[in-house]
Parts: sequence; C-alpha cells; structure tokens
Amino acid sequence: MVQNIDSILQENRLFPPTADFANSASINAAKLQALYQQAEEHHEGFWAELARSELAWKKPFNKTLNSDHAPHYRWFEDGKLNVSYNCIDRHLPDKADKTAIIFEGEQGDTRHISYAELHQETCRFANALKAQGIASGDRVVIYMPMVPEAIIAMQACARIGAIHSVVFGGFSAEALKDRIDDASAKLLITADGGHRGGKIVELKAAADKALESCGDSLQTVIVLKRTAHDVTMKAGRDIWWTDATQGLSDECEPVWVDAEHPLFLLYTSGSTGKPKGIVHSSAGYLLGTIVTMKWVFDHRADDIFWCTADVGWITGHSYVAYGPLAVGGTIMVYEGAPTVPDTGRFWQLCETHKVTVFYTAPTAIRALMKSGDEVPNRYDLSSIRLLGTVGEPINPEAWMWYHMVIGKTRCPIVDTWWQTETGANMIAPVPGVVATKPGSCTRALPGMALDVVDEEGNPITTPNKGGLLVVRKPWPSMLRGVWGDEARYIEAYWGMFNNRYYVAGDSARRDEDGYFWIMGRIDDVLNVSGHRLGTMEVESALVAHPAVVEAAVVGRPDEIKGEAILAYVVLKGARPEGGKDATLTQELRSWVGEQIGAIAKPSDIRYADNLPKTRSGKIMRRLLRTIASGEEITQDTSTLENETILLQLQGKE
Ligand code: WTA
Repeated sequence: MVQNIDSILQENRLFPPTADFANSASINAAKLQALYQQAEEHHEGFWAELARSELAWKKPFNKTLNSDHAPHYRWFEDGKLNVSYNCIDRHLPDKADKTAIIFEGEQGDTRHISYAELHQETCRFANALKAQGIASGDRVVIYMPMVPEAIIAMQACARIGAIHSVVFGGFSAEALKDRIDDASAKLLITADGGHRGGKIVELKAAADKALESCGDSLQTVIVLKRTAHDVTMKAGRDIWWTDATQGLSDECEPVWVDAEHPLFLLYTSGSTGKPKGIVHSSAGYLLGTIVTMKWVFDHRADDIFWCTADVGWITGHSYVAYGPLAVGGTIMVYEGAPTVPDTGRFWQLCETHKVTVFYTAPTAIRALMKSGDEVPNRYDLSSIRLLGTVGEPINPEAWMWYHMVIGKTRCPIVDTWWQTETGANMIAPVPGVVATKPGSCTRALPGMALDVVDEEGNPITTPNKGGLLVVRKPWPSMLRGVWGDEARYIEAYWGMFNNRYYVAGDSARRDEDGYFWIMGRIDDVLNVSGHRLGTMEVESALVAHPAVVEAAVVGRPDEIKGEAILAYVVLKGARPEGGKDATLTQELRSWVGEQIGAIAKPSDIRYADNLPKTRSGKIMRRLLRTIASGEEITQDTSTLENETILLQLQGKE
C-alpha cells in the first residue's frame, strides 16, 4: 500500500529571473496570473480559446471536450486539421526562407533547411509513402539516425494521416521487431546507418534481422543513404529513399484529419512489463507542444532552439519534430554523440550555431560536469539565454553547475516535469516570472491540474509531505490510450482511484511555496524503519559528495529495518578493486547522515563503472533491486544502454 512518503531533502536557494530576462520575456507576471485565472475559472473554455488561436483548422470545432467515455477523453473532436500543415505550410507566406533546421552530423557536415525546402521534402516524401500504398491510419515505423530525414519522415506521415511509431535507433533488432508487430506496421523507414561515437550504427542490418522474424504486415522498407557503406537490399521489399521519391511532385495536399486522429504511437517501457504503445492525438497533442514552447521556452522568432533528445523519445517528438516547428522556430539537430571528438562537442555546437535555448537531460549534464569546467569554458556560450532539463529529477549539484558554468548565472533553468503520456510539459517554471529552486520543477502550468494526494486520494495540504503525483482534470495533450490494450490504459493510469485521477506513477511533495519536488517513481520507493523515502533525495546527497558522479539507491529486504538501503555509486576516479572500499563507504555513509539524516544512510555501497540505464538515460532501479536481493535477472534487459554492466554489478566479472 502506498503511504505518505517522507521528505528529507532541504534546499532553500531561490533564483529569480534576472531583470534582463524578465523584461524581455513574452509572459510576464500579469499575463501568467491571467492565464491561471482563466484556466481555474473555466478549464474547457481556456483550452478552447487556445485551440482556436494557436492551431490552424480546416474545419473549426464546436465541441471542446467530450467526457462521455471517461477516462477516454476527446478534445475538439468535430474539428479537422493537419499537423504537418500546422508545422510547415502556415509559415510559408512570411517565413519561406527562414531556416527551419540547422543540422550538423557527427563528422561535422552541416545543412540548413528552410521552411520552403522542408515543405518540398516533406511533400515529396509524403507522395512516396502514398506511392507505396500507405494511407491514412496505416502504421509506419521510423528507425533512423538523428538526421533531418527523420523529421521529414514524421512530418510526411502526419501529412497523409499515417500513424508513425518512431523506434530509437539505438534499440536492438528484437525491440524493433516487437514494435513493428505490436502496431502491425506496413512500412519501415530506416537508413543504411548513422554516425555515432565514431562508428557506424548498423540500422539496416538490425532492421533486416528484425524483419526475418516479423509478422507479415510489413511490406516495404525505405532506406535513406546516410553513410554510404555497403548494406544488402532485398529485392521487392527494400527501396532507396532517392528512388522512392524520384520524379515525384513536391506538392502534396494534406489529408485533413479529425482532431482526435492518432498522430503517433510511441512505445515506453515503464518500470515493469512489456513496452506500451502510447497513443497521441493530432490537435490536442500539438496544442500542448505549442503552448509550452511559448510559456516554458519563451519562444522568440530569432531563437535557435536545441533540444538534444533523439526523435526516438517523446522529448524529441514534442520539442524537436513538432512543437518548435509549429511555432515557426529554428531548431538545431545534431546526429552524434556528445563525446566526439571530445566532451566539448555540445558547447562547440552551441557556439558555432549560436544556440539560444538549450534543453537536455540531467544524465547528460552530470556526464559533462564530470569532464570539468575547463571544457565548456573554452567556448563562447554567450548566445544561450535559457536552459532546460528533463527526464529525471536533477540533483542540486548538477543544477548549480548548469547554472554557473553553462548559464553563467544569466540564464533561467526550466526544469520540466512531464512524461511520454502527458505529451507536453506539465510542471515547469515560466522563466520570466517564476523564481527557481535547484531540484524543483516549480509549479504546474496553467490548465494542468497537478496535485499530490495520499493513498485515499485526498490532496496533501501539509507542506513537504510526500504522496502520489496525479492530474485532476483532463488536458488536451494527454495520451489517448495504449495501442491494442484497453485494459492496460485503465490499469496503469486510472485504476488506483477509480478513474478519478490520472496517476503519473511518480511520488512528489510540495513545499511551503507550493513548488513541486519529484521524489522518484512509486515503484522505487524505499521503506526504511517505517519511513518511506523517495530514491531521489538519497541519491542527490550522494552525488553532492566530491568523489561521486552518479548514484542509485535501492531497498534490500532487512529483518530489522524492513528495507536497508543499498547504494550503487559511480566515482569520479577509478572503480575500487572488487567494487568495494570500506573507508570510502564509511565516509559516504557519514556524509549522507550529515546531509539528510541517519535514517537515509546506506547500509552498504557498491562501486561500479556505470549504472544500468535505459537508452534515454534513466537508471533502471528495478534491475538493481533484483541484483541487490541476489535474485536472477528475469526481466527484459533489451532496452538497456549497457547490458554488460549487469555482469559487473552481479560480481560476475
Ligand atoms: C521522470 C520524459 C523529475 C518522471 C519527458 C516521469 C522527471 C518520467 C522530470 C517520464 C523532471 C521526467 N523531474 N522527474 N523534470 N521529467 N521525469 O516518459 O519519473 O521518458 O514520470 O518522459 O521521467 O519519462 P518519459
């Protein structure tokens, strides 16, 4: 049973926006106040007005929200529009020559693509999809490197109403096969390879392997030539991108779809079980990305917006392929690893392309922090005006480094809480108004009814008392279901409180100022001597120690305490022999004791070269839990970034 979760983290530093930033921000305090008030007074009307002003409709909607089949909500359902039209065509009258995409490959090749060119390429490729028999509602899997054609492929699907499912290029053949089969996809778009970490990622070879054992839904494979190394092409099934588009028109009338027409599926692994195909809508989803581009990222016409996420993740959907284009922005796209040729690559890209807004994940920030201040200090980062983070709670130490060394204390940091399922940012500061605190994602955005409740569903009003993070009202960019698994949609997100709330699966608390602090996933909560502790706070204390780069804590059954905390730690220096170091362990235990209290002291610490992470950088604590309790790993580990680390953690190497 879920009980209240105790909070032990104290963080009182407050960072208001600089006067410079506040004065030029598009949302000021009065505007934000008005948005909150409208949303509070009339939730539906608030969203209806935004949907009218922010989206271009082919047929306007009259009905804002249909809750007849709750928790299956339908937004703007009698309206018609096209997402690709909203992202591209509507900017052509005054922005045809504006750069939509700045691309740099890992090897340093660059391309600038204007809105007019993006329009031509998207239309031509949409025509190619049609020529291959793809029609509205068909599923298309995209398994691509991070190159502009990945975005063009997504936009082309949207243009003809095909439902895309992007599979991250780092996933295995097995993971690709499962996703193709689950969605009964008809067509796969891939590449001969991509450049990453100085090597070629063999996408086509993986795709071939996946297709050997796939069901027979999949008929066609379109292959982009990116690396030009040898791959095998299967006659009658595989076709080169250039051949598929050869001679086709660069005009393609958009297919006008219903607001609720699925735009895409995106598989998310969650913490247990097989990946779920999260379904997103067209209008509501796009609206969520647009308003957050404006509120959270303070979008300006001259921004160079760089979200480092791959299009294989929701962040790469909402803040690379859709949101920034829908507001007519310029995005930066980088193909490769942050460490090629060295750990200064991100900062070189920011300098070269004059990036103004930089959005990345805590795991990347921690890794870059580890390489020392001298690396970023070599580059001119003065173009950056706003920084963002997403994906995990950011520990205050990494936050401060981001603030000082990258933002030079000038740039607000937007710590954005959201999920694949929520489609767009839900809790995040509006940067010209809301003062930030290191480690807090601050306040829920207007129209997003976030709350923290106890196990009975009662709102927790005592400051700093932890509970379950829920959403009390439907919002336009929410997921519409789990592909092919109705029961799982209800069970995973709504069952706990009888369809009353959307349950995010995270634990959180709110402080005296009403700021949200995410404490970890509910499944990961520790239970020590009757106290329920989130993983985030203990890990954050460990990472604050100068010797530690990363930490993950899990509970191990303990006769006396219920659970004892076992910490897995990655050090700045070399891993101690055998993964143990009694002296350092003593020091770290006392350190945690001083930082947050004796209750949180790990009973033991193991040192590793790395932690088991998903490819999007999230630590898989459930695997560590299995290892900690000495059980055999039976879970699916195919989505791990570094499967081999499991051997080290199990003491098998
Ligand atoms: C976690 C990524 C703390 C959280 C957009 C959530 C965060 C899960 C934050 C969703 C944040 C995401 N602070 N935790 N700013 N952002 N999370 O689906 O546990 O890959 O439930 O979506 O990441 O991960 P997903």
